Order: sequence, then C-alpha cells, then structure tokens
Amino acid sequence: MSKQKFYKIVTYGCQMNVHESEKIAGVLSELGYVPCGELSEADIIVFNTCCIRENAENHAFGNIGMLKKLKAENRELIIAVGGCLPQQVGKADNLHEKFPYVDIIFGTHNLHKLKDYVLLKQKQKKAVIEIDSDEGLVCEGDNPVRTSYPNAWVNITYGCNNFCSYCIVPFVRGRERSRHSENIINEVKRLLAEGYKEITLLGQNVNSYGNGSDNVTFPQLLEKIANLDGKFRLRFMTSHPKDFSEELARVIAANEKICHCVHLPVQSGSDAVLKAMNRKYTAQDYLTKISYLKKHVPDCAVTTDLIVGFPGETEEDFEATLNLVKEVNYSSAFTFVYSKREGTVAAKMPDQIPEEVSKERIMRLIDLVNSLTREHTKNYVGKTVEILCEDYDKKKGMYLGRDCYGRMGYFKSETNAIGEFVNIKISKANGVSLIGERV
Ligand code: SAH
Ligand code: SF4
Ligand code: F3S
Repeated sequence: MSKQKFYKIVTYGCQMNVHESEKIAGVLSELGYVPCGELSEADIIVFNTCCIRENAENHAFGNIGMLKKLKAENRELIIAVGGCLPQQVGKADNLHEKFPYVDIIFGTHNLHKLKDYVLLKQKQKKAVIEIDSDEGLVCEGDNPVRTSYPNAWVNITYGCNNFCSYCIVPFVRGRERSRHSENIINEVKRLLAEGYKEITLLGQNVNSYGNGSDNVTFPQLLEKIANLDGKFRLRFMTSHPKDFSEELARVIAANEKICHCVHLPVQSGSDAVLKAMNRKYTAQDYLTKISYLKKHVPDCAVTTDLIVGFPGETEEDFEATLNLVKEVNYSSAFTFVYSKREGTVAAKMPDQIPEEVSKERIMRLIDLVNSLTREHTKNYVGKTVEILCEDYDKKKGMYLGRDCYGRMGYFKSETNAIGEFVNIKISKANGVSLIGERV
C-alpha cells in the first residue's frame, strides 16, 4: 500500500506557529504520513491558524473555504483546522457551522492529541472537535519535522500573562509557563550535534523566562546556551520592554554567539496610548532600555512592532510614535493597523479610530520606517559581513542568508553553501537586502 500523504502544513501567524507546524508535521510522520507538495495528492491537509488580527482570520477562512470542492471530489481527504483561531470562545462551533466538511478542529493546547483525532476520524463519520483550556501544558518530547535548517526554533516559554489591552494571545495561549532549563539546554545540544547553526529561542515574552518554575533567569539561560561548544548563532524573540534588563544587554555584549539584533516591540511612542494598551512602560522607560543596549552593545540592530489607530490615538499621540521611531533609529519595523479583537479590553473602548485615519497614519509610518531601513542598508556598502547561508533563490540564481544583525544578504556560489558561514563583501544595497561577493 502506498504511504498516506500530508500536504505541507498551511501556517499563519508568528514564529511560534511556524514551529508548531513543524511539531504537527512530526505528529503526522509518527502516524506514517509522508509530506507532499500538491493539495490534490494529499490524504490530510492541516491549517495552523492565527487570530492576532482580523485579516489573519479572514485569510484562513478564505483558504479553508477553497477546499470545499476538493473535499467533494475526495471524500477520504481529512481536513484539520488547529491553532489560535479555534481556541477563541465560540470559534470552533462557528468554524464547524461554516465549514461542515472540516473533519478535525483542535486548539493550541491540543496539538499533541492530533494523532488520536486522526485515528478517531478515520473510524467515525462525524467531525472531531476538541478545544482544551489546559493552561498547565508544557510540551516535552516533541519530535518536530524541522524545515528551517540551518536555524532551529526552540520554545522556552508558552503563553502570556501580560494582557496588553488589544491582544488576543493571552486568551488563546493561556498563562505563561516556562520549560525547565535543563530540557531546553539538552534540546539545543541535540540540535547542535545534528548540525544546526542557529538557535532561535521562542516565547511571547522571553525576558520573563523562569517565572517561578526554574531558578534560572533569561540572561542566565542565554549565557548557558552561548557557552555550549561549536560555532553557532543564538537569537531570541520576543522581548517585552518592561522586563528587558541591563543585565541582558551585558550578556549580549559578553557572548559572541548571541546575535547583535534585538526585537523590542514598542507599539506606540505616546504615554497615554501605552497606558491604555496596558504595556506597563512609558516612552522614557523604553528609551532607557534602549540606552542599555547602546551602552553595552553599541552596534546592536534594534527592530520593533508598532500599532497605529489604537482607540483614542490622537494626531499628537501618533506624532510621538514618529518621533520615537526616529530617535531609536530602528533598523526595521513591523507596522500594523489596530484590529479590534472580541473579548479584549480595547474592543470595548470608546473612540475607535476611523479606518481612513489609521490608513493615512500607517502610510506615513511606513514611509519613515522604510527611509530608516534604507539608510541602515546603505551603510553596508563596501563592508564585509558574515552571512549564515539559509537558502537558494532560484529566480535570482543566488544564495541568501542573514548577518548577525538580521540583515539579508545575497551572493553567488559555485557550491551549495546552505548551512555555511560565508564572508561576503557588500557591493550593492537593494532596499532592505544586500548583494555581495564571496571573499
Ligand atoms: N508577544 C509578542 C508578540 C505578539 S503578536 C510581543 O508582545 O511583542 C505580534 C505583534 O502583533 C504585536 O507586537 C503587536 O504589534 C501586534 N498586534 C497584536 N495584537 C494586535 C491587534 N489587535 N491589532 C493590531 N496589531 C496587533
Ligand atoms: Fe500580546 Fe502583550 Fe502578550 Fe505580546 S506581551 S503576546 S502583545 S499580551
Ligand atoms: Fe501567534 Fe497569531 Fe497565535 S501571532 S500566538 S499564531 S494569534
């Protein structure tokens, strides 16, 4: 009998979800499924969804909707929908009503039971729907099918306790819990032994790692990992500014394996908006954290997330954001229009900002961020940087990878360079990316 096939997991949302899709692929492999690249060949298709903003949700809904025909042609096909979207109150039922042909609906806390759900679904006609609110879950013993070589994602925390007033994550991911440091370190050791060259530690708020369950703090954990043998890079995301300490800046400076790039989402430059967002820092507090980095790691690239059009945001508030962006001089930034999420505190706030105002603001913000990014990129021309080669771009006919500041560089190579550290001399800056020659 030919092997059952799974279509590459359809993933939306953050790196956490990207890694969880690798875990889902691992569960399916344990069941004997092998990957395939064509929807029409698949015996199972899994959607790993996101609900951080309305458009992430709509995107998933649209793509699930498109499978109706395929399912009608192939009754044996299993369609499963997991991740953050069905984890919202009432959404699993909503999905089931809207797409009765979806066979399995599971939440972020149920990922490890997907095996049981698939076996159950093969036996029964009716859909399998299970959404746990088991917040104590800390996953160990996963067997992900990793797809991001030479990088490997490693969870250090799950969930979030911060309840930023706009954010759905604490509702769909549960309370923050940390993995034991020994388990993390053993996983990293295994990955390094397997040849991975970059480790990215994942958590919604990595800085609060430990959180009572382990005596090891985040800076200590970083240091322990950075002290492991071998040439590799260490990255982490995401840092919450309220928990970003000077000690962390010192640890970054003192350990050459830790990359000189920090993603520190500020969201807004206005104290009134930050307060309403429940971010627990002022613009000045944030700038103080940046000063720790500038003092200890002067060449550190800083990136951020920004939200425009938060309820009540005035033109002055928005200008405070523009000013802060200029002052920090980010090397790049993700910019978002505020999206109302049912169940969050901000959804009930008065003064929701009209779409055209938010759109106009985000265009101004994007222009500013792009001009800063271009300036940073221009400064690279003539310099030699070390790239960790990640991939080959067939269209460009070039290999690509990132330097330790997170900047993408392209180069030509006669031999397969994926997984190698390569020095390239930058001859051209092209928007956000760099082009150079191997030296
Ligand atoms: N835990 C991380 C990332 C959370 S989600 C952190 O706190 O930084 C990634 C980004 O999505 C957030 O930083 C925020 O900028 C954005 N975001 C979250 N909820 C949003 C919403 N309701 N509308 C628009 N953007 C949102
Ligand atoms: Fe959401 Fe805030 Fe938690 Fe980040 S820290 S996941 S923005 S609640
Ligand atoms: Fe990530 Fe989206 Fe969930 S950003 S945590 S996949 S809501």
